[in-house]
Amino acid sequence: MNIITSSLEKTHFPVMLDEVIQTCLITNKDQLIIDCTFGGGGYSKALLNFSNTKVIALDRDKSVISRAQNLEKKFPNKFTFYNEKFSNLDKIIKKENKPDVIIFDLGLSTFQLQDYSRGFSFKSNQRIDMQMGLSTISAEDVINTLDEKSLKLIIKILGEEQEANRIVKNIIRARTLKKINTVTQLVKIIEASKKKNYNKKINVCTKTFQALRMFVNKETTELIEGLIKASKLVKFGGKIIIISFHSIEDKIIKYYFTNYSSNKSNPSRYMPTENNQKTTFFKKYKNNFLTPSPEELIKNPASRSAKLRTAVRTDQVFTFPKEFADKFKKYLDIENVTI
Ligand SMILES: C[S@@+](CC[C@H](N)C(=O)[O-])C[C@H]1O[C@@H](n2cnc3c(N)ncnc32)[C@H](O)[C@@H]1O
Repeated sequence: MNIITSSLEKTHFPVMLDEVIQTCLITNKDQLIIDCTFGGGGYSKALLNFSNTKVIALDRDKSVISRAQNLEKKFPNKFTFYNEKFSNLDKIIKKENKPDVIIFDLGLSTFQLQDYSRGFSFKSNQRIDMQMGLSTISAEDVINTLDEKSLKLIIKILGEEQEANRIVKNIIRARTLKKINTVTQLVKIIEASKKKNYNKKINVCTKTFQALRMFVNKETTELIEGLIKASKLVKFGGKIIIISFHSIEDKIIKYYFTNYSSNKSNPSRYMPTENNQKTTFFKKYKNNFLTPSPEELIKNPASRSAKLRTAVRTDQVFTFPKEFADKFKKYLDIENVTI
């Protein structure tokens, strides 16, 4: 790590913490809460301060283990941590132990972003790694070995980058001369490729970096599988709370919560449903979401794109929502390309 952990602890602000705690609606009854994205542990710590909560936390990043172990020592009967991806939620949560709330706070933590050795930040001058943890490839592998067509699809579709073609052409040209292994090399290639900066508020590298990070960590696949497993595991009447940061995440969550809620008929009129019954995993959902307060935005500008959505589970028995996975197959196929 390039930055001393203690100084990072001071700058770590869990996004929309008050809203998450209020949405959990902790009552006098015992509650089991799953924090699928432990990160800095902000949500888990706050939730453990209630006398009747138990928290099970997950994170794919092994660098959080020591922080989680400290919390396990402090709350031995109330807190357990697993270094696991949330697509494997069903391996951890036992069927008979149904959670009251399952929380996802998507994306990167401040710790990951500010650790320049991990190559997530375009301010880094180190290796382009971008692995969140339990990943099988690095961004360096992707940039240096993937074919032109797949690389274009990743940057265009996952990054929603309009100038993907030129960026990829320049990556291919550069890598035939010399391996691209540092963030600085990649940043220079992107900067030289961009004709215009359409959105002056965001860095020209943001979209390409987002695309590579999503591909390396199969983030869309994780999100879709995580949502499906959460709806299977959460208690009837329980909640799924999810905080998202970009438009692809938003699109997937909005579609799932809206189309599988009781305010909609079948997600697709072409979709066959078992026994002709509507698939309504969730109570009425009208795409309501919360955003950070003006005070939070001043304290933590990085929270500006956060959207917090909550879905409340009905008591309809779970059946696999194949239509949902099919709907976003485009992203899943891109993330499944092997290198
Ligand atoms: C935005 S941070 C969470 C911050 C946390 N809510 C807090 O209060 O400190 C996201 C965390 O989720 C983890 N993560 C991202 N995708 C994951 C996945 N598919 N499975 C498990 N953990 C994941 C990341 O490694 C990161 O530590």
